[in-house]
Amino acid sequence: MSELTTPETKQATETLLEASGLQKYFPIRKGLLQRVKGNVQAVDGLDFSVQKGETLSLVGESGCGKTTTGRLLTRLLEPTAGKITFEGRDITHMSQAAMRPLRRDVQMIFQDPYSSLNPRHTVGAIVGAPFKLQKVATDNGIKRAVQDLLELVGLNPEHYNRYPHEFSGGQRQRIGIARTLALKPKLIVADEPVSALDVSIQAQVVNLLEDLQNELDLTYVMIAHDLSVVRHVSDRVAVMYLGKIVEIGDRTGVYEKPMHPYTLALLSAVPVPDPERKAKRERIRLKGDVPSPINPPSGCRFHTRCWKAQEVCKTDEPPLVELAPGRRAACHFPENTPDAGQTVKVV
Ligand SMILES: Nc1ncnc2c1ncn2[C@@H]1O[C@H](COP(=O)(O)OP(=O)(O)OP(=O)(O)O)[C@@H](O)[C@H]1O
Ligand code: SF4
Ligand SMILES: [Mg+2]
Repeated sequence: MSELTTPETKQATETLLEASGLQKYFPIRKGLLQRVKGNVQAVDGLDFSVQKGETLSLVGESGCGKTTTGRLLTRLLEPTAGKITFEGRDITHMSQAAMRPLRRDVQMIFQDPYSSLNPRHTVGAIVGAPFKLQKVATDNGIKRAVQDLLELVGLNPEHYNRYPHEFSGGQRQRIGIARTLALKPKLIVADEPVSALDVSIQAQVVNLLEDLQNELDLTYVMIAHDLSVVRHVSDRVAVMYLGKIVEIGDRTGVYEKPMHPYTLALLSAVPVPDPERKAKRERIRLKGDVPSPINPPSGCRFHTRCWKAQEVCKTDEPPLVELAPGRRAACHFPENTPDAGQTVKVV
């Protein structure tokens, strides 16, 4: 993607993963014959890439397709259309057997640290399971490897024999992270890793993920519904609305000069602690609810809620185009463009 080769983005731009035209429709079946009556257009044509060592955040309201995207990238779901390449290899429809090595390289951290850990297994069994599943030999036995992992994520290695219910929410998410790290993955898709946790411990877990990234040379796709949570960990941010990326770019650009009206609205909802800045900033209240992904609006999917919408927005879908170096947005009337309304280059 052209946005990745511009000087604004990270220097080392080695593409780890690339998605093009990525689509996932869930068929809706009805009646005795279970005929397909329509589709939930959960993810509808995503184009983006993830650079080695970076954190790309996927942000958007509930139901916009973030988890589905994460599950497609980790191949837990089969795409309806489009292509995914990992380290240059097409993995879109790779068989389960061929996927085996990839299962080690690409891991997912789940949102809910309560339901993602089996309550009947000890922490040792949970964190050690990937070694057994993938038949990976460890230097000093699985127990030692698990204890090292527990230590790495800030847990007491002596608690190896305890059960998940004996830990707090934050500690359980650390257990989940330890399990994820067992096989030394290259890419971690973290699906709202802190949203189920107390606000007071969210930052600790986010910081842990950041430290681990530096230490272990990890690449992250971080999913969040709130732009504030991922602000300081993101290198780049992709904003999603109803199954599409509406804006993608480097962090500073997206947060300081959002181009898509939806990004602007999301940012205006982020609480500002400083009362002076708060007074200056206007809260944009979007009208109505997010429309259904079964029958999304024509043209620009955001037109039913956008305060800038014109006739053209109802009929013509705006393509995701590069409007500034390292910045792409899908809007007929974008904000904060270097040359208002003019596209620099079409990709
Ligand atoms: N297995 C499925 N079958 C049918 N529809 C699905 C399935 N999984 C997800 N969906 C639908 O696809 C859309 C996108 O869901 P997804 O879970 O990816 O959104 P999300 O952005 O992760 O939302 P949240 O912030 O609530 O986690 C939603 O309308 C959801 O109801
Ligand atoms: S294309 Fe039109 S409706 Fe869509 S975000 Fe831009 S101005 Fe709003
Ligand atoms: Mg989700």
